[in-house]
Amino acid sequence: MIRAILIHPDPRLKKPCDPVAEVTSEITELARDMLETMYDAPGIGLAAPQVGAMKRVIVMDCIKDAPPEPMVLLNPQVIWSSEDQSTYDEGCLSIPDQYAEVKRPASVKVRWMDLDGATQERQFDGLWATCVQHEIDHLDGKLFIDYLGPLKRQMITRKMEKLKRERARA
Ligand code: NI
Repeated sequence: MIRAILIHPDPRLKKPCDPVAEVTSEITELARDMLETMYDAPGIGLAAPQVGAMKRVIVMDCIKDAPPEPMVLLNPQVIWSSEDQSTYDEGCLSIPDQYAEVKRPASVKVRWMDLDGATQERQFDGLWATCVQHEIDHLDGKLFIDYLGPLKRQMITRKMEKLKRERARA
């Protein structure tokens, strides 16, 4: 089932999420819906608070023009970051059509729980590294615009407020 994506500003996008204690049918269903919602948008990553579920769950697929590689990460944690940084023009499904350059570690090692309840660990590089850090930020109530200067951030926030008013009237 495709779920509605919250648009910034929304208090649920600013709140830290709760850890997943065990893989219940509710969590499995949430992950499945999030993947469907992400592919439909379309996007390369989605975090549970973006669909209003305050749980530490993210989904990603950064493969383009190749067989899909859907990933579901429960309680993801960065356990190592490279000193090397890279800059990407980031966007967010909760901040449609707005992009800005954000600098982050170029590679990160992440530990998470999979849908079988097993611990996984993997190093992410390139776009995957940016994406996983962006999505983990969501679980802590942080958006990519929080890395920008206050003026740029306010400008984007005002555009989103206007977009929400227009959508509410439509
Ligand atoms: Ni996002």
